[in-house]
Amino acid sequence: MAAPRSQPLLLLLLVALLAASTDAWGKEGHIMVCKIAERYLSEEAAAAVQDLLPESAGGELSTMCPWADTMRFRYHWASPLHYANTPNVCNFKFSRDCHNSRGQRGMCVVGAINNYTDQLYTYGDSPKSSYNLTESLMFLAHFVGDVHQPLHVGYEEDEGGNTIMVRWYRRKANLHHVWDVSIIDTVMKDFYNKSLDTMVAALQTNLTEGWSDDVGHWENCANKKATCANDYAIESIHLSCNYAYKDVVQNITLGDDYYFTRYPVVEKRLAQAGVRLALILNRIFDKKKADTMPLYVQ
Ligand SMILES: *[C@@H]1O[C@H](CO)[C@@H](O)[C@H](O)[C@H]1NC(C)=O
Ligand SMILES: *[C@@H]1O[C@H](CO)[C@@H](O)[C@H](O)[C@H]1NC(C)=O
Ligand SMILES: *[C@@H]1O[C@H](CO)[C@@H](O)[C@H](O)[C@H]1NC(C)=O
Ligand SMILES: *[C@@H]1O[C@H](CO)[C@@H](O)[C@H](O)[C@H]1NC(C)=O
Ligand SMILES: *[C@@H]1O[C@H](CO)[C@@H](O)[C@H](O)[C@H]1NC(C)=O
Repeated sequence: MAAPRSQPLLLLLLVALLAASTDAWGKEGHIMVCKIAERYLSEEAAAAVQDLLPESAGGELSTMCPWADTMRFRYHWASPLHYANTPNVCNFKFSRDCHNSRGQRGMCVVGAINNYTDQLYTYGDSPKSSYNLTESLMFLAHFVGDVHQPLHVGYEEDEGGNTIMVRWYRRKANLHHVWDVSIIDTVMKDFYNKSLDTMVAALQTNLTEGWSDDVGHWENCANKKATCANDYAIESIHLSCNYAYKDVVQNITLGDDYYFTRYPVVEKRLAQAGVRLALILNRIFDKKKADTMPLYVQ
């Protein structure tokens, strides 16, 4: 009796786990964002990051950047911190949109970035900070990635594209997953010999060449004192409307037309997220230059 009953349960659990584990830039996206960020850390920031990383990170921030997704079951309260939803409109307003399902203000990806940034500012305090700054760092690195995935600031109605079923070429997927994972996987396969490091190297080349004029612009926002997370969310909802949702309806098959016009957006967002994560960490840990921290490659 037990076996036939437990099997569907197991299957359900497995499906739930799989669904949950893909509900954010996939592992690859987060690793790439952090590999880029690591290159732009100042000496002080790099030292603080090393100090905070758990032993299992092997000294590399990027290995810890998918961590927050693996904790979504254990830290259920943190689940709403991966995204923000708008009432099906193409703009983001913190006071209106940044809350969890119980209406607690600040409980969204923008509030989380500001929260964990604030916590990290207590690094080096005495008496010692009461926060677990290892977790603060791992959360921050993850959420700066998430806020750059356009559909992490999407419509409430379709849960950021999660309820929009599509085909990605021949495979079934939902639109959110296409942006978290499928586009990146296809780009890696088509252009980078399935190698994450090759793709990161290409993004880095663009940062110093094609995009070098833009990079200064990426560092700026209206609110220079805090993080610019609010601005990043506004960019994402615009990209959701102009690219991710555009021309997409239930059950549509997305192929070359969609892919070739959207993957450049994904590549740019990954690079932007990396640069900006470094900027935030440099501002936090390199207190000498707190406000106008320039970026420099190590
Ligand atoms: C801020 O961080 C603390 C500690 O992890 C957490 O309990 C709280 O829910 C966080 N709030 C936001 C808005 O991220
Ligand atoms: C801080 O968080 C990390 C990751 O969850 C955990 O391994 C570590 O034990 C925590 N440290 C303390 C002092 O609680
Ligand atoms: C692609 O990767 C494979 C191993 O994964 C390697 O043997 C091959 O040389 C690579 N090709 C290029 C062009 O880098
Ligand atoms: C680099 O930039 C060019 C021009 O904007 C773009 O066509 C190309 O896809 C970019 N490559 C990467 C890896 O982002
Ligand atoms: C999409 O396809 C599913 C079955 O694959 C079907 O039940 C549903 O009605 C379709 N929705 C639309 C809007 O075509």
